[in-house]
Amino acid sequence: MPGDKSISHRSLILSALADGESIVRGILDSEDVRSTAGVLSSLGAEIPPISETMRVTGRGLRGLRPSRQPLDCGNSGTTTRLISGVVAAHPFSTTFIGDASLSRRPMKRIAEPLTYMGARFEFEHGDGLPMTVHGVDLRSVDWDTRTSSAQVKSAILLAGLASGVEVRVTEKSPSRDHTERMLRAMGVDVETDGNQVCIRPARRLLPLEIAVPADPSSAAFFVALACLAAEGELTLTDVCLNPTRSGFLQAMRRMGATVEEVGVRSSVGEDVGEISVGPATFRGVRITAEQVPALIDELPLLACVAAGAGVDLEITGAAELRVKESDRIATVVHNLLAVGAAAEELPDGLRVRAGRRELAGTIDPRHDHRIAMAFGVLSAATGNRITVQNPECVAVSYPGFWDDLRSVIAA
Ligand code: S3P
Repeated sequence: MPGDKSISHRSLILSALADGESIVRGILDSEDVRSTAGVLSSLGAEIPPISETMRVTGRGLRGLRPSRQPLDCGNSGTTTRLISGVVAAHPFSTTFIGDASLSRRPMKRIAEPLTYMGARFEFEHGDGLPMTVHGVDLRSVDWDTRTSSAQVKSAILLAGLASGVEVRVTEKSPSRDHTERMLRAMGVDVETDGNQVCIRPARRLLPLEIAVPADPSSAAFFVALACLAAEGELTLTDVCLNPTRSGFLQAMRRMGATVEEVGVRSSVGEDVGEISVGPATFRGVRITAEQVPALIDELPLLACVAAGAGVDLEITGAAELRVKESDRIATVVHNLLAVGAAAEELPDGLRVRAGRRELAGTIDPRHDHRIAMAFGVLSAATGNRITVQNPECVAVSYPGFWDDLRSVIAA
């Protein structure tokens, strides 16, 4: 499995802010991670080309320089939001741009706390991109987010870190905590308590040495494939098993699958291990708000699994899906209906209705990588005939997906 996307972004950003040389092994080579590398280079960081073993010489906590051109973040929300937090603490102005999908995504959620800390934001229209951040010496903040978002939380943590002030963030329910774990490994005093995190001022970041574990969100496609299969067993190695990312495995277990986590060990603060999985006898499941953050990116896949298995699924408390790379509630339901499944939209989620039929048709992922891959898995399940338009959109997170899918099916 390819390296974890969230950890890959953070490895580059935090290495660029560290003192001395960091070593990053097994980074994900995808369009989104290349966006982060490109943006950091434009800000004066010394980022070598993406490769298996990368050595990054950091510039210190506030060592970035103004970019001569607007920063193109491509399709990547993580690049935009995390790096906004960093440049908000640098004494210059930075403009962010992105593709059509990213330009529509809401940035007020980071602009609000960072403005409260003293930065100034300018938008050309609404609260999407282009966005200009005017950075200053920021002040400390105790911020209560209305949503659970690791991108918002991380933007505030990185802003506080680069400004040398204490920051505290409280979320509705805890989002993925890779930033906190990595900062701790780099010598920062990070205190977490349930859905609250506080970081104390650090004078410097120790260099990072990390082997990026495999991405559980990419592994999820193959877990789903193995569960939907009639026979066989699949083992996925060195996967990140961080509990804030393990919601899909739990949901599959609640749906009747036997998914084992084996040989779990700790690596740079992250739990890493093997996943072993085989065919499941499925039953329906309900996903509610408090479960959503730990499988937010896997919800389109879960909907496809329910449709493929012919069981009921109800997801609520997931309105965030409407502001991802596409409106994932509308895109999933539209495409499930297009292939003959029974599904309906809810304001904050969706329903899939039981009924085993062979699914067939063409789906339009609306340039959303996770929708394309979820329907790719559904198309590979026995009896289905589904064509995925624009399959190359998977390149933002998993360029080798279609090859890997073919080779797993052939095995
Ligand atoms: C991410 C956080 C999540 C997730 C995204 C990656 C991150 O977004 O959906 O794919 O790396 O911090 P939100 O923070 O908006 O929930």
